[in-house]
Amino acid sequence: IHRFPLIPIRGIPLMNYIAQNWDSIWAFCPDPSDLLIATYPKAGTTWTQEIVDLLLHNGDAEACRRAPTPVRSPFLEIFSPPPIPSGLDFLNKMPPPRVIKTHLPFQLVPLGFWENKCKTIYVARNAKDNMVSYFHFDCMNLTQPEPGPWEGYIHKFMRGELSWGSWYDHVKGYWAEREKRNILYLFYEDMKENPRREVVRIMKYLDLSLSDDVIDRIVELTSFKKMKENPMANYTFIPTPVFDQSISAFMRKGEVGDWMNHFTAEQSKMFDEDYEKQMKEANIPFRTNI
Ligand code: A3P
Repeated sequence: IHRFPLIPIRGIPLMNYIAQNWDSIWAFCPDPSDLLIATYPKAGTTWTQEIVDLLLHNGDAEACRRAPTPVRSPFLEIFSPPPIPSGLDFLNKMPPPRVIKTHLPFQLVPLGFWENKCKTIYVARNAKDNMVSYFHFDCMNLTQPEPGPWEGYIHKFMRGELSWGSWYDHVKGYWAEREKRNILYLFYEDMKENPRREVVRIMKYLDLSLSDDVIDRIVELTSFKKMKENPMANYTFIPTPVFDQSISAFMRKGEVGDWMNHFTAEQSKMFDEDYEKQMKEANIPFRTNI
């Protein structure tokens, strides 16, 4: 396992296995029945995947476990070193409708998703908590570049020098397209504040109508505590040389406002000033505490 340097594709730094296979990723064409879950890394992807999976299986966790492939929402752009199967290998083995996960910014999502009017759920998390979570993830994911010290990481985040590029451009890119593309744009903070409300919102977007009992069960099964214990969700199936969870657990903290335990007052001020510039006129209703 190596921490390879990132390679830019159309200006977006990507992991080397993704960049080297870019043409086949860009050429991927989904089925109109496929669902896309798009996020900047660490915004709540796994949580949303788990909710969607349970909604599609009427809240039946056993049925989710019996899914035909070990990966329930193939990761569109992930190309692993052989013989580990890549996201496209999984997708080609699964009949539609499929749930597909991506961290690609809007402009790098293969055009077939928009031409085929695929449903798309985007999850955004406030910049500071998203960055804290990404920092810990980069410490434990030994295929990502070294995060380096925290102080320097803040600057890399602000400059968009992390895998999948700038958080600012990412959240703005999908926000700008949400109406035209019928994207359900969710916030991690809303999910924390009222998980049931957000589960119902996703259910309606998927044109499903489940009983109140089933909805309650899904909310319970997708709590941080339950997911942390669930081997299908806590990524303990990824071998140690890739994810070293002794450094930091994938299901780390699951809270809003953990940034306060990381930023000094000075760093926070500097970050906020830059944030104002980068997010001016974006009008995306982010919250840094709830
Ligand atoms: P923290 O590092 O802040 O704990 P992703 O799935 O996009 O990689 O995001 C991972 C982040 O979402 C981690 O954040 C993880 O703990 C958090 N998370 C995962 N499941 C969650 C849940 N059910 N409730 C709250 N947070 C959750």
